[in-house]
Amino acid sequence: MFSADTVIGQPGTGPKERAAPRLKWPEQGLSVVPDWIYTSDEIYAREIERIFHGRTWNFVALEAEIPDPGDFKRSYVGPTPVVVARDTDGQVRVVENRCAHRGVEFCRSLRGNAKEFVCPYHQWTYDLAGNLQGVPFKRGLKKEGGMPKDFRNEEHGLRKLHVQTLHGVVFASYAADMEPVAEYLGPEILTDFEAVFKGRKPRLLGYYRNELPANWKLYHENLKDPYHATLLHSYLVTFGLLAAGNKSAMIADKSGRHGTMASAKSDDPSASVDQDSKKEMRAFREDMKLADGRFLDFVREFDSPWSVTMQTIWPNLIVQRELNTLGIRHIVPNGPHSMIMIWVMFGYEGDDEAMTRHRLRQGNLMGPSGFLGLEDNEAMKFLQEGVRRSTGDQSVLKLGGETEGTTHTLISESAIRAMYRHYRDVMGL
Ligand SMILES: [Fe+2]
Repeated sequence: MFSADTVIGQPGTGPKERAAPRLKWPEQGLSVVPDWIYTSDEIYAREIERIFHGRTWNFVALEAEIPDPGDFKRSYVGPTPVVVARDTDGQVRVVENRCAHRGVEFCRSLRGNAKEFVCPYHQWTYDLAGNLQGVPFKRGLKKEGGMPKDFRNEEHGLRKLHVQTLHGVVFASYAADMEPVAEYLGPEILTDFEAVFKGRKPRLLGYYRNELPANWKLYHENLKDPYHATLLHSYLVTFGLLAAGNKSAMIADKSGRHGTMASAKSDDPSASVDQDSKKEMRAFREDMKLADGRFLDFVREFDSPWSVTMQTIWPNLIVQRELNTLGIRHIVPNGPHSMIMIWVMFGYEGDDEAMTRHRLRQGNLMGPSGFLGLEDNEAMKFLQEGVRRSTGDQSVLKLGGETEGTTHTLISESAIRAMYRHYRDVMGL
């Protein structure tokens, strides 16, 4: 007997990893998605090269995580470990977490404050900007050994990334010729990004970290897929967070890579799910009641018509604003079959104690085992298992017809198609 969790074969050894995919998107176009984009090692390697190390801005930190000179945080660009540090002059620096000597991932603390970085293996020392400061026994000992005469520290610093900060959010890129972050986001996405960050200083509330056994793109898909929201999430529909008839939109930027799933909670307590919709939504539970009604209070504090905005910012950032719970989800791809999620939950400077309690209480909606997050994680895991181990080779993306981009109906996969139009171009598929 197989239990639900039985894994047949290990990642990397199944027929779908071994089979060399033709790496050409199926002729049906964006109404289908080939399985191999979730399972192929070759595709994964190309994604790192062309997307995460290519022409993208990658989230690495909130400035609030490193407020003072010397503050640093271990972070990632794609799967590549980096260190984000505030230099003595206040500038934010991002360097690869890889010693220039033997490749050691030298920074071991998740966060801290340092005057310099010292590799634990041979004590090569770097300043906060990643310049090599010291090599022990550089001149050898008693005129023997040591570095060649022409060894220059300047030529052996850490690899430095390009850095830009927008409203306290730090982005890094391997590409030197990136447009400003605001332009990269585009006006459609910038509006809701600014509703969270512009003119307000985040105050950290805490972190979560979890591994999700699914391809990293599935997280983007999940938050560009309003269709599932009313079907999978009992909590959402039963307690009126997303009732049929609520104002909602699935917004995409021009390129299709970014998105904002938005909805407005109704002020009208009688607005509830109509009988026809209930029949379609098995997740609706008439028998469930909240023990603490404060849980879903919404304190209006944003310059926005929406009470919920879930932003997918290509390629590695989710900005969550669900009522009054705020968070960053940093996606770290970890092979085709896994991703690491790093969550940074925050409120704002100036929040009083009651508001902080409210945010913490409401924060239970989200996180790896949140009332809303839990089901998504499981659905993505099941999807990954299906595409990895089955005999089929593509899935269907036909909801909402042939459109790609913004829609105002929940019953559409238009934003996912827009994302894959962009992906296909960048990946040369
Ligand atoms: Fe969901």
